[in-house]
Amino acid sequence: MDSQKSPQFVIAPSILSADFACLGKEVQDVLAAGADWIHFDVMDNHYVPNLTIGPLVCEAIRPHAIKNGKPAMIDVHLMVEPVDRIVPDFAKAGANLISFHPEASPHVNRTINLIRDQGCQAGLVFNPATPLDYLDHTLELLDLVLLMSVNPGFGGQSFIPSTLHKIAQVRARLDRYQAETGRHIRLEVDGGIKVENIAEVAKAGADTFVAGSAIFGKENYAAVIEAMRTELGKSGKA
Ligand code: DX5
Ligand code: ZN
Repeated sequence: MDSQKSPQFVIAPSILSADFACLGKEVQDVLAAGADWIHFDVMDNHYVPNLTIGPLVCEAIRPHAIKNGKPAMIDVHLMVEPVDRIVPDFAKAGANLISFHPEASPHVNRTINLIRDQGCQAGLVFNPATPLDYLDHTLELLDLVLLMSVNPGFGGQSFIPSTLHKIAQVRARLDRYQAETGRHIRLEVDGGIKVENIAEVAKAGADTFVAGSAIFGKENYAAVIEAMRTELGKSGKA
């Protein structure tokens, strides 16, 4: 399924903080309010101490994830171990991008190739204390690097400030890679992103922003997303 081209700055609301009793409407509403992607957090009560949603729910929201008449990106963040068994199920359920944690897969290269072979974009996720060395032999196969700015498992946690330095390190690396190859890899940050800190996160080098509680916790999604875009405009990176 073809998704529309992503803008320079992508806002990807995490439906972890949405009202699960009316998830289809929440997805429609947040896209109508100006969101670009839908961030889909999958937790297994094994790799992380929480349990959320799987491929059936991805399939159920797929028809609701429409923006300007075209399919919006469903950005699946797998916090599961093992990873490979469930990847084809998400691809069949309409995921466009699938990211996973390298610690959760014994064969990182195999998992990335599996995601790509299933027709999805591939992302690698780094916990706050995960070293960036995993990028050494994977970068050329990735569409996205996802830096966790909280420990994975729960929405509503506070942004860990040391992530800013890590974002800048990855930004420099991705810029070098793009200069050498012409290929753009997105840099997504996940956890504790709010109107108050999104400009700082963009300034450090992120271009894709996950926000759960900051958007779904508020009455007016459009007002929050608009305020986030205003802040991004001020970051000097637009
Ligand atoms: C945490 C999840 C995040 C989380 C973000 O494990 O990966 O996507 O839902 O939620 P907030 O924006 O509330 O920190
Ligand atoms: Zn996430």
